[in-house]
Amino acid sequence: MLSSSSSSIHLLHLTLCCATLFSLHLLAAAAAPPKVGYGYKLVSLEENTNGGGLVGYLQVKQKSSTYGPDIPHLRLFVKHETQDRLRIHITDAEQERWEVPYDLLPREHPPPPGAKSSTVPFASSEYAGNDLVFSFSSDPFTFTVKRRSNEQTLFDSSYGALVFKDQYLEISTHLPKSAALYGLGENTQPGGIRLRPHDPYTIYTTDISAINLNTDLYGSHPMYMDLRNEGGEVNAHAVLLLNSNGMDVLYKGSSLTYKVIGGMLDFYFFAGPTPLAVVDQYTSLIGRPAPMPYWALGFHQCRWGYQNLSVVEGVVEGYKKAQIPLDVIWNDDDHMDAAKDFTLDPVNYPRAKLLQFLDRIHSQGMKYIVLIDPGIAVNSSYGVFVRGMEKDVFIKHRGKPYLAQVWPGPVYFPDYLNPNGVSWWMDEIRRFHELVPVDGLWIDMNEASNFCTGECEIPKNHSCPIPGSKTPWVCCLDCKNLTATRWDDPPYKINASGIQAQLGYNTIATSATHYNGILEYNAHSLYGFSQAIATHKALQGLQGKRPFILSRSTFVGSGVYAAHWTGDNKGTWENLRYSISTMLNFGLFGVPMVGSDICGFYPADPEELPELCNRWIELGAFYPFSRDHANFASPRQELYQWDTVAKSARNALGLRYKLLPYLYTLNYEAHISGAPMARPVFFSFPNFTASFGLSTQFLLGSGVMVSPVLEKGATSVKAIFPPGTWYNMFDMTKAVVSTDDRYVTLKASLNEVNVHLYQNTILPMQRGGMISKDARTTPFSLVVAFPLGATEGDAKGRLYIDDDDRPEMKLVEGEATYVEFYATVREKSVTVWSEVEMGAFSLGKGLVIEKVTVLGLQGSGRGLTVEVDGQPWADASNAYLSESHPMQQEVKEESGSIKT
Ligand code: NOJ
Repeated sequence: MLSSSSSSIHLLHLTLCCATLFSLHLLAAAAAPPKVGYGYKLVSLEENTNGGGLVGYLQVKQKSSTYGPDIPHLRLFVKHETQDRLRIHITDAEQERWEVPYDLLPREHPPPPGAKSSTVPFASSEYAGNDLVFSFSSDPFTFTVKRRSNEQTLFDSSYGALVFKDQYLEISTHLPKSAALYGLGENTQPGGIRLRPHDPYTIYTTDISAINLNTDLYGSHPMYMDLRNEGGEVNAHAVLLLNSNGMDVLYKGSSLTYKVIGGMLDFYFFAGPTPLAVVDQYTSLIGRPAPMPYWALGFHQCRWGYQNLSVVEGVVEGYKKAQIPLDVIWNDDDHMDAAKDFTLDPVNYPRAKLLQFLDRIHSQGMKYIVLIDPGIAVNSSYGVFVRGMEKDVFIKHRGKPYLAQVWPGPVYFPDYLNPNGVSWWMDEIRRFHELVPVDGLWIDMNEASNFCTGECEIPKNHSCPIPGSKTPWVCCLDCKNLTATRWDDPPYKINASGIQAQLGYNTIATSATHYNGILEYNAHSLYGFSQAIATHKALQGLQGKRPFILSRSTFVGSGVYAAHWTGDNKGTWENLRYSISTMLNFGLFGVPMVGSDICGFYPADPEELPELCNRWIELGAFYPFSRDHANFASPRQELYQWDTVAKSARNALGLRYKLLPYLYTLNYEAHISGAPMARPVFFSFPNFTASFGLSTQFLLGSGVMVSPVLEKGATSVKAIFPPGTWYNMFDMTKAVVSTDDRYVTLKASLNEVNVHLYQNTILPMQRGGMISKDARTTPFSLVVAFPLGATEGDAKGRLYIDDDDRPEMKLVEGEATYVEFYATVREKSVTVWSEVEMGAFSLGKGLVIEKVTVLGLQGSGRGLTVEVDGQPWADASNAYLSESHPMQQEVKEESGSIKT
């Protein structure tokens, strides 16, 4: 049980998986915060003539001992690293400190402490190099970052004293009323995507389930984007504090304070000024999101509890019979022998039969993914363990491998910061791949999750796991809490798990050590990230193909290697809603391939499940990563289990599979520019301020709006649309024409989801299919959307295709095709043309466009001429052109907002 000195806490343990807990009340009133520091003064500042940047030295003004002694001298380094990025780096001037390793996240090295370089005194109080101006005052030292072009102050540290101790750093900024903040995760935000003042934002990778609200969760992403509307001028910028230590971020509306328990202050400011520019600049630093194999954009089915291979075969059959698309079938840990990684259960998943099954599904183009956990069973007859011991790859505590407990019972955790650990892991993946040719890997429980806390031993008087135990997640090792070291029990307690839990609670003890003595205290939140890097290296080297990895724990830069799902949610309407905000946040974090467990992981109320599942697939069909997954205690919830859900799935996934070329193009755009695949509406419409908090609708790319039903019993949905024409993707003769920010009510019977296409867009689509491999060889169609009634207008769109087996996703002659489509309407003539930037790749049959649908020309009269690529278009009947095929506006009520 956890304990806390200052609060009375009730904990409820859910008995379904992992270390699930949530705090019900925090009763004690917060005491007035102690004065933790008096700040620093700037004693020198010089400009580096060699390589650029400012180097300054700070001296503590008056010592305070709260949370430990102040570090007396700090070194400040400021540099405009690119046209749109400013770095402000503050660390101990005399001693090296922990920072995120440069080999995990490559970036420029600031000069090391004490480095001598050629400098000249810096006399000004402002330092400009791009649109971001650094200015400061010396005593006490405070700084601001301003946007030169409009004089806006983006960051102003004068709000509070700078505090810099070994285990406690604090810095604050003022925020203007106009600031709208997004990011700071991972956490489940009941208030939606826009950060709510006074909600806690604690950042520390933690396995408590996603049903815990406003607590630290699986990933660590200390970045926020700030979207400001000042006098009608909207600008976005972002701030990253690159630091892997645990932290609390206190957002009060008019200020934001970081309270960090180690490392250094390494701030990056990204100038924007649009949300898309922000993610471009952000991912140019942290790494561009991974290219996905085409099939990964298909639909995935998983469940914890597919007891044997026949059940899995039955699931694939079930999808086929119900004519619901399915690309990937997954195994949780059920295929393993006694929950041991890289093994097969000889009785329930006999290898020969599994290989036959894989041959069958592979020949159809389907894929197979299995789960692995980082915890390696301590068992001297288990080769993976034995080889790991020989190579000395495990994290240590007091000189011995750190003993923990996960599904197989006692485990050791591999150290992915250790080059030996990485090569051993790669070799184990190679061996496993020889045993079972999996198409991707799911790395779970990598926060790392541990069912025990502290320093543990294998019990002498009972076995662990307890045979026949129905609660294998209850710690069965003999453990004692660790409080003796300042790493296990630091002076400042972050609000871990929402209850100031001990840092080592249900994870690796923070006094444990990695390679070269790196403390778990510092590297904790890098665990899943480093595992993803090693796994990626293994798969890429092995298959020579584009890897697919799904990781639960993520850090800044994880998107370069892995997709993410939002963890252990629950089959409730609230969790359906929360999934949108978390997904959109991960788009900001540079992890665009993201989705939630469709239909919910923890069991839903069985009465509600069919309707919930129905609505969930209507939303989940448009998650970038679309997977149905459930807990073994949940009722079976494959989409074919209920006729009505199957119907909705055919409908929604049917559209997804037609949109696959668009989704793949979005993946390409994410990969070259960081643009999220699923985006908040303000990404395309930053001046539509009504969308700043919008968390019930989202965009796929720039112009496809998804407006799902999120309420039980609803048969309509209230939705908001930025001004312009939005065409119903299921019935293109219908449209919403919006002129303002009023909500409209759209019909949404059980089998109907609202997906709309924005004017001025050209959408490349294909015919769809049951498996993406087949769908992607069907002929293309183009949907060209002009504003309703347009006699003048332009539209454009893009298409990227390549051989998705290639590890890289880039324009290489003969291996990729990139086409831009353009269309204009001028009076009575429509012209559509394409510009091929790279065109030699065509999946065998060439690119056939069988149909062009032109939307919006109602009222422009008969006798239109349509020309495509210089040729008259023979079959103009495909275009909705004249009054004989009138557009209908589909809004049911709320007069005034719709004009046609
Ligand atoms: C925890 C994961 O979040 C969940 O998806 C998985 O089913 C269980 N571990 C069991 O492996």
